[in-house]
Amino acid sequence: GEGSAVPNERGFRKDVLKAVSALRPPITRWPGGNFASAYHWLDGVGPREERPKKFEMAWNSVETNQFGTDEFMEWARAVGTEPYITVNAGNGSPEEAAAWVEYCNSERDTRYAELRRKYGHSQPYNVKVWSIGNELYGRWQVGYCVDGEECARRTLEFANEMRRVDPSIKLIGVGWDEDQDWNYKVVKTAGEQIDYLSVHRYLHPPSYPELAAASLGVEDMLNTTYGVVQSARRAGGIKRDVKVAFDEWNVWYEGPMERDATVGDAVFTGSMLIGLERLAGKVTMANFAQLVNVLPLIRTRDDGAFYVNPQYYAFLLFGPNSGEDVLPITSASPTYYSKELGRAVPYLDASATASGEAVYVHLVNRHEDEAARVTIKLSGFNAASGTHDYVSGQSPGDANSFDEPNKVAVQRGQEMELGAQTVELTVPPHSVNLVTLKRG
Ligand code: AHR
Repeated sequence: GEGSAVPNERGFRKDVLKAVSALRPPITRWPGGNFASAYHWLDGVGPREERPKKFEMAWNSVETNQFGTDEFMEWARAVGTEPYITVNAGNGSPEEAAAWVEYCNSERDTRYAELRRKYGHSQPYNVKVWSIGNELYGRWQVGYCVDGEECARRTLEFANEMRRVDPSIKLIGVGWDEDQDWNYKVVKTAGEQIDYLSVHRYLHPPSYPELAAASLGVEDMLNTTYGVVQSARRAGGIKRDVKVAFDEWNVWYEGPMERDATVGDAVFTGSMLIGLERLAGKVTMANFAQLVNVLPLIRTRDDGAFYVNPQYYAFLLFGPNSGEDVLPITSASPTYYSKELGRAVPYLDASATASGEAVYVHLVNRHEDEAARVTIKLSGFNAASGTHDYVSGQSPGDANSFDEPNKVAVQRGQEMELGAQTVELTVPPHSVNLVTLKRG
């Protein structure tokens, strides 16, 4: 808040803005989540003192509406991220969603575009990506759908009105990670109106080795979902290219949602990001959930205390340190058996991307207590210089806290041998690693 003693820019904490910007998030989803399914956007615009304080149904809480659409746009601009809005397809209407598109994107002299101007924003925000609802399959969701057919019909009704206001927007339909029949129905019936089918996944593996392996199961689910989307497109004669948006994912354990994440969670996060690089072209958007304090990358306290958790560092090794193009890569490593997945899991996993003269290799070592010697062979690329950065800890359970905010941080690797089209290095146990190589 603007009145706070904590350093802020128009009410946004400066430490949080700086930390989020450093990750270079291309896109940020708002206002939820379950929250979105009972949120009425008109409550959150206009003079703040006139905004209603309401009972919040999704989380049995109170919503003051002090942070609404214009604040989100301002925050997104300050961070340098593209805003993505989830409309209320729970207890909201297609008309309300279309009015929101008008408020954000229209240059007409009609009611909601005029309202935006009245509240001081003459230029449209041009929000490109919108999702029609959140987890509409869930009985916990305000206004859930009973099956995929109902969700498809609801998606069509919303898309119809939203696209009339702005035909250029990209729309996301609700898919379900646990029910491919639902996904098939949504895409077969509503596929011509959506650009992505979204799925979510939260995990709570029973041990560190299972946590480190878990991203591979998620990758299988995402590949299957993409395959089902393509079959449904064929069956429904859908010409629109529909991709998968993995727009909520994280670990989520029993207990409070405000909690500290561990180095093991960072290994899961690094493995998931490697998996998402492998899925480029199929899963073309992914959004970690969430950002601050709840299932967080960043912890804050009202007295100004602040720190980031090991998962934040995993993101830092990717966001600003990945190339535009994903490179084909094969890797070989000893394996261990995952009971949860019923398969062998490589201790080492890797992906590589390139931009201009730089190649970025991301590596995880899932092993609980053994370092690994790694040889990277680069076809047609001689590295003149290179660096190795990693996040790890004394044990996979290590975490930061308000008392020890810097226990886990990114460290610089000390030795790396660069040869003709090869690089050799040692990666620590339970670690996420970035190797940045530059051509001479
Ligand atoms: O991220 C917490 C909640 O998890 C989200 O609000 C909801 O979409 C999901 O079930």
